[in-house]
Amino acid sequence: MPVLKVILGAGEQRWPGWTATQQADLDLLDPQSFARFFGTRRADAFLCEHVWEHLEPADGQAAAQLVARYLRPGGFLRVAVPDGHHPDPDYQALVAVGGPGPAADHRVLYTLETLAPLLTNAGLTVWPLEWWDRTGTFHRADWSPHDGPVYRSSHLDHRNEAWRQGRGPLGFTSLLLDAVKP
Ligand SMILES: C[S@@+](CC[C@H](N)C(=O)[O-])C[C@H]1O[C@@H](n2cnc3c(N)ncnc32)[C@H](O)[C@@H]1O
Repeated sequence: MPVLKVILGAGEQRWPGWTATQQADLDLLDPQSFARFFGTRRADAFLCEHVWEHLEPADGQAAAQLVARYLRPGGFLRVAVPDGHHPDPDYQALVAVGGPGPAADHRVLYTLETLAPLLTNAGLTVWPLEWWDRTGTFHRADWSPHDGPVYRSSHLDHRNEAWRQGRGPLGFTSLLLDAVKP
């Protein structure tokens, strides 16, 4: 079977090796759209950057279950959302529920403590990759954008260039997790 790696809610994002889909193709609120798209196929991986915060929490739980159903065993969802523990007040203003610009559509602000259970309830095993804890400390696991690029991450976001060069603070990061189907 060919490898099937799918971006959900891709917007303008395009990454080599990944099939970019929009809500019109795969709607996290519509199981029928997944049934139509996948048939008997299953995904090796889903990539979903800054989409889950646009879903009501109850819908977010159902979406986790839907995505889990369409992963092959051993496949994974790489998911990134704004991080409710990011210590920068400017960041929090930008990502707040009902915030400015694109955030006007934000329905929820997750932390590792609130996003992880949604995925474990769906039968997935969670591996945090990047997150802030409640004391304002940043954590990063040894992960590679080559397995699934997330732009708004410490590795890739242009706002973290100074940090990558060791001459400035972190700018824009995400709560970033892998959720693996056993
Ligand atoms: C802030 S944009 C992020 C776009 C892109 N992932 C990125 O990181 O640049 C939010 C995206 O979520 C998508 N979206 C919102 N609700 C969705 C749903 N129910 N199913 C799939 N995608 C959804 C929107 O269509 C939009 O593309």
